[in-house]
Amino acid sequence: MPNEKVRAAFQALARRREELAPIRVADMFVDDPRRFERFSIRLDDLLFDFSKHKLDAGSIGLLIDLARAAGFDAAREALFSGQKINNTENRAALHMALRNLSGRPMLVEGRDVMPGVKAERDKVAAFATAVREGRIRGASGQAFSDIVNIGIGGSDLGPAMAARALSPYAAPHIRTHFVSNVDGADIADTVKPLDLARTLFIVSSKTFTTQETMANAATARALVARALGEGAIADHFAAVSTKLDKVAAFGIRPDRVFGFWDWVGGRYSMWSAIGLALVIAIGPDNFEDFLRGGHDVDEHFRTAPVERNIPAMMGLLGALRRNVYGDSAHAVIPYDQRLARFPAYLQQLDMESNGKGVRRDGRPAQFSTGPIVFGEPGTNGQHAFFQLLHQGTDVTPVDFLIAATPTAADAGHHALLFANCVAQSEALMRGRTRGEAEAALLAQGVGAEEAAALAPHKVFSGDRPSSTLLYRKLDPRTLGRLVALYEHKVFTQSVLWDINPFDQWGVELGKELCTRLAPAVLDDAAPLGSFDGSTAGLIAARRILSR
Ligand code: F6P
Repeated sequence: MPNEKVRAAFQALARRREELAPIRVADMFVDDPRRFERFSIRLDDLLFDFSKHKLDAGSIGLLIDLARAAGFDAAREALFSGQKINNTENRAALHMALRNLSGRPMLVEGRDVMPGVKAERDKVAAFATAVREGRIRGASGQAFSDIVNIGIGGSDLGPAMAARALSPYAAPHIRTHFVSNVDGADIADTVKPLDLARTLFIVSSKTFTTQETMANAATARALVARALGEGAIADHFAAVSTKLDKVAAFGIRPDRVFGFWDWVGGRYSMWSAIGLALVIAIGPDNFEDFLRGGHDVDEHFRTAPVERNIPAMMGLLGALRRNVYGDSAHAVIPYDQRLARFPAYLQQLDMESNGKGVRRDGRPAQFSTGPIVFGEPGTNGQHAFFQLLHQGTDVTPVDFLIAATPTAADAGHHALLFANCVAQSEALMRGRTRGEAEAALLAQGVGAEEAAALAPHKVFSGDRPSSTLLYRKLDPRTLGRLVALYEHKVFTQSVLWDINPFDQWGVELGKELCTRLAPAVLDDAAPLGSFDGSTAGLIAARRILSR
């Protein structure tokens, strides 16, 4: 039973935890001047430093044992060979094909998907270029100045995150906007300042049934029809979906419909035509660089041994913290303002993938699965939730992300940004003892009694783990690398936990209940007797308050 072997591997890691408990990580650096080199991995100009975790060479050996016990090599092979590893939906998970620039075939059910991928990519590139160059225009003959992507979840978060991250690469004459929330304020506020005669809407939905997206698309359609006439719809809409029949029913011109495949999960789809708004913004060449970054990481993940494999080690370290130390959250802090939406994007990638309570075969999960993922750009997070990271009663591992070179003009700002980033990881590791705190207070001239009283509040436990991803510059290729690193990290963890990361049944129940509830919210006269007391009470209260 692989699960018993995995349990034994976790137990061995727990024993190692006890053995290392008396040793401070800061002292490990003193004892081993080469610690940084030994506990960091480079992928060209990207560096993954995990030396601030409490690990030694023995721990690494045990992490390799853990991967082996879980059948990591075979699972990785199954992923890349297009096997139907999404067993509850009977699908492969071959998003790597979308960024496969190697010329090698990639197979699903024995058929090479690459010709289809390439054809669709070329179609997207041709359309995006024509929009950028003003050859495809609105109904009144004006070039498009604004692109509004309507989608949610995987049909929104990835492209929206990337459009912001890569804004320095965007065409200056085209702005991109992302509307996702069914709250009408989202589309209303987005569209208000726009000239609809110069606006192209892209309806992005894998299933083309998602309530929020369909509601927003219908509103956009009505707005365009009212402003420009029904005949303008065809010129102002494009769509991206796997359900081409449903798109046709919406009335979008066939030559403006872009497809992808059921072996691309929603949260893994930004590499596909779902990235259309991004391609229009940054252009096909930059988008290809983004794909190349993803492909770099695929090659690395596929071939590097576990201990030199960045996503595999990210996954193993995460499992060490989750399953051996019991940490229930994981913070991702980009010291990079343009990665402001990266944590939100990661929340779906990680929590929708690994927030599971059953194993692949339906039995209850044997180990704690995905943590709560959260984050904000640094330095802002420092002034919000870092207090808890440093002194809270729970330990939360942190990923710090930072560029070596600034993408904004002022290098002085970047030096401060970098110093802040490294200072935080150092503080988390180093901590401060009570004696040090008291001595510092006395040195500041504080009286002995007051120093003794204040010192406990200034103690930092230290030994709080963090990893740092340092990259040369936030360019399209680097962003592709970062995204693919986390995708494969999430996959690695799913293997360790024996769960299916590619389905998302947990979002279904709320959707079903919403469908049942909506009529009662829409119609004030609808009876509420079939609902529980709280649900009925809230609907009734809304009826009163909205009068
Ligand atoms: O939140 C559930 C979900 O199905 C996600 O997995 C998906 O990314 C999102 O809804 C949007 O789905 P679609 O692209 O089909 O509109």
